[in-house]
Parts: sequence; structure tokens; C-alpha cells
Amino acid sequence: MPGVYQLSLDAMEASVDGLVEAGIQSIILFGLPAVKDDVGSENVDPEGIIPQALARLRRRHPALCLITDLCCCEYTDHGHCGILKGDEVDNDATLEILGRVAAVHADAGADIVAPSGMMDGMVRAVRAALDGAGQEGCAILSYAVKYASGFYGPFRDAAGSTPAFGDRRQYQMDPANVREAIQEARLDEAEGADMLMVKPALAYLDVLATVRRESTLPLVAYSVSGEYAMIRAAGMNGWIDERRVVLETLLGMHRAGADAIITYHAEAAARWIAADARA
Ligand code: PBG
Ligand code: ZN
Repeated sequence: MPGVYQLSLDAMEASVDGLVEAGIQSIILFGLPAVKDDVGSENVDPEGIIPQALARLRRRHPALCLITDLCCCEYTDHGHCGILKGDEVDNDATLEILGRVAAVHADAGADIVAPSGMMDGMVRAVRAALDGAGQEGCAILSYAVKYASGFYGPFRDAAGSTPAFGDRRQYQMDPANVREAIQEARLDEAEGADMLMVKPALAYLDVLATVRRESTLPLVAYSVSGEYAMIRAAGMNGWIDERRVVLETLLGMHRAGADAIITYHAEAAARWIAADARA
């Protein structure tokens, strides 16, 4: 994706410096291990890439809110979001791993952990693991409402996380189903989620608005890689006014009920908004 790179730890520091300078107050980290295997071993390694990144960022930007994604799919060689039993993801065995990853990240300095694999019971398992590790203060941002979407393509290319066989429909949601979004949001809230997420954003603004009405928790919209790619491509070709369209889509997500937005446009948008405020 233009403007989005896999970063070494040094390059990450430079990139985050730019974000902080632009006024960004929270970031979410995705780890890419040196080696992938069938259970995603590096994900639970206290010396893994994410704990190293957290330690550096904690020192360099003490006030920056650090969020980590907890999923297995960047770490497994088969690309699925959990460990497998036959050709299916083993939900409960995966919960045990997610709990361990959460504790490792919290110990390394994460303020918020974000379980993203849509496993049943993941919020409860992560909360119990965090509390058991003495990390009662680490919050959970649940990817509560995550659809099986074609908009994840560029991310999977970047992370090498396209499933080697099958797809994610066993655990991600059917794009036609909005009532299930309410159900998933209620369950995650009952399990102890501190914030809820809807993903993708642009094609699911009605879902955002629905979840907004159903919960008083902070609501996060994740504007995913394919959304970014479409707008960038059209902007780079001169087909749209990129600045105007980016700010209009972010405003739409906010209008639909998002309290916060995860977006690959974040740095540019923060600079545009600051410039507009000065003008
Ligand atoms: C997997 C995960 C996905 C994204 C981030 N983590 C979705 C998927 O591959 O199913 C996509 C993010 C994006 O497209 O920006 N848990
Ligand atoms: Zn995943």
C-alpha cells in the first residue's frame, strides 16, 4: 500500500515520532514475526517484536496511548486467527493463547489490548488473564463486530496473513447480518469489554449507528486497508480531491456514532485538521 510499510524497530520510532508531532494520541501496533509457525509461537514470546516495540515506545513517548492487536493470524504459517484442529480453528485452545498474549503485552507496557480474532469468549478469557497477571488497569478494546470482508485484502498482503486454505467465515460475520452485530456487542460488553469496535467502517455505517444505540461503551470504527487503498488510489490518479474525501469519510464515521477512528489516513488527517484550525 502506498504510504504504509512494514517497519523495523528503528523505523517504527521515526514513524511514531511523526504521528506524535502531528497530534495523534493513540496508536495500534500489529506485529510481524521473523518466523511463522502452526501455533504462532512468537505471539506469546515476551521477547517478541511487539514487547520490544512497546518497551521502546513507552520510554520514548510516555504519554502516548499504546494499543496492541492480539490476533494469531500474523504469526501462524496457515494464516488463520487461531490454532487449528483439523481444518477448523479450535476456539477454546485459541482463548488460552490470547490470554497469554494479552498478559505479555500488558507487562511490556500496552495500555489497551485489542482481541481481533472473533473467537467466542475472547473478552472474558483476556480479562481473566490480565487480572491474573496483576494487570487490572489494562483495558480491552474488543473487535466485537467484525465482518468477513473483501476490504481486508491489502492488509493481508502486507502481513502475509491470507489464509492458506479456506476463509474466515467460521469466525467473522456475514455482511448481510445486522442483528448479529447487536448480539456480539452485548456479549462482549457482558464479558467485560471496555470499548467496542465495528469493522470495516465505510460500508457498515448503519452497523455503527445501530451499535451506538445499543451500548453506552466508547465505540471505535476501524476504517480498514481496502478503504484506505481505494481513496489513495483515486487521489493519486487525480480522480478525487483526496483531502476533502478523507475528511468527509471520517466525519461520516463520527456522525454514525464513532467516538474514535482507527485509520491509515491518521497522520495526514491530523495535519489537515490542524491546518484548518489555524486557517
Ligand atoms: C485479523 C485482522 C484483520 C485486519 C487486521 N487484523 C482482518 C483479517 O485479515 O481478517 C484487517 C485490517 C485492515 O484491513 O486494515 N485479525
Ligand atoms: Zn486474525
